Amino acid sequence: MLIARTINDLNTARATLGAALGFVPTMGALHEGHLALIEAAKANGAKVATSIFVNPTQFGPNEDFSRYPRTEDADLEKLAAAGCHLVWLPNVATMYPPNAATTITLTGPATNWEGAIRPGHFAGVATVVAKLFGQVRPSHAYFGEKDFQQVQVITRMVSDLLLPVEIIAIPTIREPDGLALSSRNRFLSPEDRARAPMLYATLRTAATAISAREDVTKTIDSACNNLTAAGLAPDYFNLVDARSLEPITSLTAPARILAAAKLGPIRLLDNIAVG
Ligand code: PAJ
Repeated sequence: MLIARTINDLNTARATLGAALGFVPTMGALHEGHLALIEAAKANGAKVATSIFVNPTQFGPNEDFSRYPRTEDADLEKLAAAGCHLVWLPNVATMYPPNAATTITLTGPATNWEGAIRPGHFAGVATVVAKLFGQVRPSHAYFGEKDFQQVQVITRMVSDLLLPVEIIAIPTIREPDGLALSSRNRFLSPEDRARAPMLYATLRTAATAISAREDVTKTIDSACNNLTAAGLAPDYFNLVDARSLEPITSLTAPARILAAAKLGPIRLLDNIAVG
């Protein structure tokens, strides 16, 4: 496994890998969800590159940038065992030269949900992902449906900016009790960890009801009430068009329910396909 920490090392390593290259951008603290993206990239037959960079610009001023878990040694072991060919570990100065004047701004699928609650978040994500694409020059890039809105935002950015990379979305990997794997789950107390699966259980119940043509507004109200009763504080729980991410009040295929809820010190994020 090649490890690059400077642009020079990256360019040297990249030149050995051929035109077809699968890429999995991450912020580290790797778990089975990240490794599923690497597996999918490998299954596609090309070599695989992963980046680890905790991107400061996608964190708000009161968010957990400084507390975000950093586990580089364990991450590198996991990537080597997963058969990753190249790991790109840039530093902040490389990604954000001091005189940089360019940031990607987004509307459309970036507007609502996480975009409304975390102003600037998707600008940070899109800008860093565009830079990583420019550095790594992948033919394919893999993103998890766990962050469903992020997948739509990146897909739209690639299409709008005519970037020569194919975006592939991979289904969410879950704990046996349904909780979506996340690097931040480690911050849940035992009590909150026991409550956390309620989010996906509620998504499943609501998706079943809406698929059976039950009233969307009533179904969503009752989902939010159930979450609150279980000790979760929903930020949003909405049926959306799966491409535009605009809210919808009746089932038009393909649709998705997007949800976020506060639980103790973290926010849980999850979603489910409907219909
Ligand atoms: P990070 O949270 O580290 O996630 C890296 C990738 O792993 C994302 O595509 C995310 O959707 C995926 N992922 C996380 N948990 C998953 C799960 N349980 N199942 C399947 N995939 C999962 O997302 C980011 O980093 C950053 O925003 C990034 C794209 C790297 C830009 O900084």
